[in-house]
Amino acid sequence: MKMKMLVGFGILLLVSQHALAAVVEVNEGAESVLMPCHREGGIPSYPFIMWTRSDLHPSLIHLRRDEEDDLKDQNQDYRDRTSMRPDPLETGNFSLTLRKPRLSDSGNYTCSLGDGRTKRDVTEVQLKVKDQQEEVEVKEGAESVILPCRTTPDLPEDATVEWTRSEPKVIFVHVFPNTNNPNKQSDLYISRTEMDKDLLRTGDLSLTLKYPTDRDSGSYICTVYRHQDILRDKVVLTHVKEGFPAWATALLVLLFVVLPVSGGVLFYFRHYFMSVYQVKVESGAESVLLPCKTTVCLQKDTKVEWTDDDDDKVHVFENGSDRPEEQHPFYRNRTKMNEDPLRTGDLSLTLRHPTDEDRETFTCSVYSREGHILMGKQVYLEVKGQCFKCDVVVFFQSAD
Ligand SMILES: *[C@@H]1O[C@H](CO)[C@@H](O)[C@H](O)[C@H]1NC(C)=O
Repeated sequence: MKMKMLVGFGILLLVSQHALAAVVEVNEGAESVLMPCHREGGIPSYPFIMWTRSDLHPSLIHLRRDEEDDLKDQNQDYRDRTSMRPDPLETGNFSLTLRKPRLSDSGNYTCSLGDGRTKRDVTEVQLKVKDQQEEVEVKEGAESVILPCRTTPDLPEDATVEWTRSEPKVIFVHVFPNTNNPNKQSDLYISRTEMDKDLLRTGDLSLTLKYPTDRDSGSYICTVYRHQDILRDKVVLTHVKEGFPAWATALLVLLFVVLPVSGGVLFYFRHYFMSVYQVKVESGAESVLLPCKTTVCLQKDTKVEWTDDDDDKVHVFENGSDRPEEQHPFYRNRTKMNEDPLRTGDLSLTLRHPTDEDRETFTCSVYSREGHILMGKQVYLEVKGQCFKCDVVVFFQSAD
């Protein structure tokens, strides 16, 4: 045990020596990467600002001489890809922007000042261009999805984390801490994101995204600013649709017709619209299944309630068993839920002998022990293929 600790310590020392150079990570395919280089206070009259990479020949990546770029001796792999602020000497900001980073750009860069005879290094940057990415799939209707991102534990107090997306333009999905810039987060993600409360200690920077929809598909970048280092990970989220084509039209109608009209009510519930359920059945059929599934982990004391348009109880499941005494007489002996619904997450209801009078919107609601609504789904049942109501049905999930 002791030996191991010693070895561990040795490695740590090695790492921290290396860490003198700022580490900047970027993913291949990014638009650009900034290699930071700053100098505080007055700068003596050094007419040259240079970025070099000593393992290359020529080693010159970018040269600013007498306030103008001088790129005739530049390494041609970097042609038309580098730029600096126009006013580096006034601002002390000599950072280099490198466009379209490639895997071969990975290496150690030196930012230095000089006058032709003497040269003074300001900073070293270790650039890592990464091509690995994490891929996460989420099924339609899932309550949430975790986008993984990890770094070393025990981050410094002033470390910051950003989750961003960049197509077509950069938007902020989640910012930690959100104190300095509370309005940075995009409206699309407000109250839908969560990170570990203790992330500085654990180094677990994974993002929980609630109520994912198709719009959330795409690349996410997790960026950590730790001391002078900028570390990045890329996660690609894919939203897997089930039976999308049948619902596509209905969803469009929902977004453009139903939503504007019923916006107030919907806002009240803070719904997120994910899919539309409609069930058709021939009159005289033996039974019909009203689907309702969830992937959240349900507690033993979760209550499931199926209600109809009049808010009459169709079926109640509480404390692990059916509650026929709470059911409206109209549905007596006509309903059945699957075995062990809380464990399987399958809260679907079988309704026997559906008739014209069952042409309703049925709501499947899940309540916590405290009576908070955890989830709600609606299913429109159409009997005999006649539709008297709008056959678009809202499927909602409470945000809390
Ligand atoms: C330095 O300049 C770059 C643009 O070249 C900018 O993105 C960066 O924020 C600046 N850094 C500081 C500390 O002002």
